[in-house]
Amino acid sequence: MTTPPLTLAVLASGRGSNLQALQDAIAAGALGARIVGVFSDKPACGAIAIARAHGLHTVAVSPRDCANRAAHDEALFSEVAAVQPDLIVCAGYMRIIGAASVRRFEGRMINIHPSLLPKYPGLDTHARTIAAGDREHGATVHAVIPELDAGPLLAQVRFAVLPGDDAAALARRLLPREHALLVATAGLFAQRRVQLHADHALLDGRRLSAPLLLDAANHLIGA
Ligand code: GAR
Repeated sequence: MTTPPLTLAVLASGRGSNLQALQDAIAAGALGARIVGVFSDKPACGAIAIARAHGLHTVAVSPRDCANRAAHDEALFSEVAAVQPDLIVCAGYMRIIGAASVRRFEGRMINIHPSLLPKYPGLDTHARTIAAGDREHGATVHAVIPELDAGPLLAQVRFAVLPGDDAAALARRLLPREHALLVATAGLFAQRRVQLHADHALLDGRRLSAPLLLDAANHLIGA
């Protein structure tokens, strides 16, 4: 029996390159998934434009049109619920999601974050990596829980910080690696190999004690 495509809801606020990477992998037959909606808090963002160009269902709700944070979450996430996604992928969604909405989709929401979590939750991760004098930088895909950037870690990509690197150089080098990391991790979900819980993740029924690592060939080591 073939596995049905994993249905994805993608949340994004910015340029949308991670969304594009998911869509490219699907179109190439490299990811057994289907994007059933792209959701944003920024109606004019690049991600919404990319989604429209691919004929994807889009919903953008501006916080300005909502009374408060909870009302915005409710407006956006009731649209997400309507498409009944198997998995919600936060791909550069820059608003903090309230606990009620996170709990509504418990076990079905992941985020890609541009740091080696638990280092540097929040913003300015590249600059903070440089300021700390770190020798490594990278990105993490993790389960979303109510605390910001704190859910169980699923997979990371790591690379060396080089002499002379600044925040812009790190961001530039990281982005294509982020894309590969997100596609590879989504692939594990498409194969129905991952289960998310509030304080741990299971891969093939076994508790992940450390995040999987993406190698140079874009395979997740140990998966
Ligand atoms: C990516 O670098 C992603 O890791 C980051 O936003 C960027 C979105 O780029 N996410 C966060 O900082 C979440 N805290 P994109 O719009 O081109 O995919």
